[in-house]
Amino acid sequence: MLAREAKEQLLGQKAVVLWLTGLSGSGKSTIAKGLEKKLYDHGVLTRLLDGDNLRAGLNKNLGFSAADREENIRRVAETARLFLDTGIVTICSFVSPTLEIRSQAAEIIGRDDFLEIFVDASFAACAQRDVKGLYARALKGEIKDFTGLDAPFEPPEKPFLRIDTEKLSVEESVALVFQQVMKIIKK
Ligand code: ADX
Repeated sequence: MLAREAKEQLLGQKAVVLWLTGLSGSGKSTIAKGLEKKLYDHGVLTRLLDGDNLRAGLNKNLGFSAADREENIRRVAETARLFLDTGIVTICSFVSPTLEIRSQAAEIIGRDDFLEIFVDASFAACAQRDVKGLYARALKGEIKDFTGLDAPFEPPEKPFLRIDTEKLSVEESVALVFQQVMKIIKK
């Protein structure tokens, strides 16, 4: 099989995994989509993996128990690694709520290629946005094991980047991530 370096050379980029973690509604997938577009405009080939595309297909047999989340993230990390080995900048947008779950992902992907981005917004702010109406339902007790309510969220200790989406707009958030990652992926 051809080496990853050969494929990176073909594409003119260095591959990494950008791992966005944060509460539901914190802005992960919005930033991920904006980032993907901006990278594309600058000639970077990417693959976006998020709950919407993975949980609808590959992971559709999984729910939100601790064990199912672990399996969800394990499969995501293995998938991300395949893209990484193809020289593709892979953007993963998952709640991935615990230190342990993200550590396992980093282990599978390889710590040097795993750039953790904490998309930070408080539970109160996410509940107020409630884009999908899930917080209202969870607060009424209609959804159990809801992250930040009756299931844990452990913030990263030393992320590559922290994006405060209560202070920054989507455009500012995307610009900040873009600026930092371009230094790594385009020589
Ligand atoms: S993870 O915990 O396994 O990493 P993932 O990112 O795939 O979660 O999916 C999270 C998305 O599923 C949320 O943004 C939300 O839309 C939806 N969801 C449904 N039930 C829950 C729940 N109990 N906790 C968190 N998110 C949930």
